[in-house]
Parts: sequence; C-alpha cells; structure tokens
Amino acid sequence: MPENYFGGETAARYDESTGPYFDPAVIATTVDFLVPLASGGALEFAIGTGRIALPLAQRGVRVAGIDLSARHGRSAAQEAERRRDTSPQSAITRRRRSTGTFSLVYLVFNSINNQTTQEAQVASFENAAAHLEPGGRFVVEVGVPNTQRLEVFDLSDTHVGVDELDFDTQRLVSHHFNLIDGRWERFSIPFRSVSPAELDLMAGLAGMTLSERWSGWEREPFTSESPKHVSVWQKP
Ligand SMILES: C[S@@+](CC[C@H](N)C(=O)[O-])C[C@H]1O[C@@H](n2cnc3c(N)ncnc32)[C@H](O)[C@@H]1O
Repeated sequence: MPENYFGGETAARYDESTGPYFDPAVIATTVDFLVPLASGGALEFAIGTGRIALPLAQRGVRVAGIDLSARHGRSAAQEAERRRDTSPQSAITRRRRSTGTFSLVYLVFNSINNQTTQEAQVASFENAAAHLEPGGRFVVEVGVPNTQRLEVFDLSDTHVGVDELDFDTQRLVSHHFNLIDGRWERFSIPFRSVSPAELDLMAGLAGMTLSERWSGWEREPFTSESPKHVSVWQKP
C-alpha cells in the first residue's frame, strides 16, 4: 500500500482549506467541463472529500470514487449520492477497484503526482483504461514540471512553500513551513513530477490517445508558458 500523506489531521482540515482549488467558481468550471463527458457515469481517482465529486453528483451524474485515505474516501462516501460505489482505502494503482465501467475517469488537483514512481503513474493510466467503456475519456489536471531545483510556491506571514526537484529521478518534495501557535512547523510531501509528453506516453501504453489539452478548465490554450494543463485521453 503506498504511503498516505492525506489521512488524519490533513483529511480532517481538508474542507477548511482555502486557495484557488477551493474557490466555488473554480469548482463550478471544473464540473462544467466534466459533466458533458460523464453521460455514462464518472469515476474519480483520489476522490478526497468529494470537492469535485459531490457537485458533479448534484448535477445528476452517477459518481464513484477511489481513495487511499479511508477518512477521505469515507467522508465523501457518507455524502455522495451513490455511497456504495465509493471505495475508501483503495489505491488507484490497483486494477479495477471499483465496479462497472464509466464514460469518464478523472484525476485532478495534481494527484497523479502523488504516485511517486513511474510504475505507479503508468498503473494509474492502466487502471483508468480498465474502468472506461469504449470511447470513454480519462481527464487529468496537473502542473507542468518545475524548471528550478528549488522553487518558492507560496510566501505569506504564516506559510512558506518550497518545492525541491531532483531532475534525475523527477522526485519532487513540497516542503510546507506553517506558523502554528507561534512556532514554525515543517511538513514535507513527496511527489513525482511528470511532463505532458511522458503522460502521453503512459496513456499510449494504456491504449489511449490524447484528444484535448488545455491550460485550464475554461479551455484556455495550452502554451509553453502554461503552469498547468487539463488533458483528455480517449479509449478507442
Ligand atoms: C490533493 S488531494 C485531492 C483530493 C480530491 N481529488 C480533490 O480534488 O479535492 C489528493 C488525494 O489523493 C489521495 N491519494 C494519494 N495517493 C493515492 C493512491 N495511490 N490511491 C488512491 N488515492 C490516493 C489522497 O488520499 C488524497 O485524498
């Protein structure tokens, strides 16, 4: 079982998070993008607390989810319309951990980077393909790789975020320094950085081809300046 950095306190505080990913307008554009692809139901890999799955279900989509963190998956399960489809404590790298097939599988909020080896990322694509019906789509939202070994991604009076990247292994560690009760505390999470081209190769290994790539959920063009992408691969 992969190590879980999102259990316990992190899961408990998750829905109190702020920042762009929790902005209701951002969630709405994400859901607007996904709804037309989900006529045959949607499966969210790394569903978390249902930040996207719950509003998607409220739009009438049959939504299932998989998450490593029992607390995350379970809280989504408690609220999601189709709670019996949600599989807490399941890894997205294991083939077919949810029942049935879907027209959409999606993995957002950089969660492909939580798979910290190339093998695990390839397995995520293979598992997505295994859950898709013919013509179904796999949607991934993820940042492009950093260009510096050390990058400050946040700087405020109470939080400093520094990414540390090893260009050889593509291992990325995000260091969070939080000011809590007057003391700075450090929390570091490992990731694996991955380029759009390498993701296309993984999709190809899983039998899928790229059908769309945007820099955001409003279908903004993806360019060499884009900090992230929303990519859609299709199963034949
Ligand atoms: C940043 S959160 C994203 C949650 C949710 N998708 C969202 O957009 O709010 C990352 C999630 O990935 C889950 N996760 C990490 N590795 C996983 C794995 N191998 N299998 C399933 N879930 C995993 C964590 O438990 C956590 O819920």
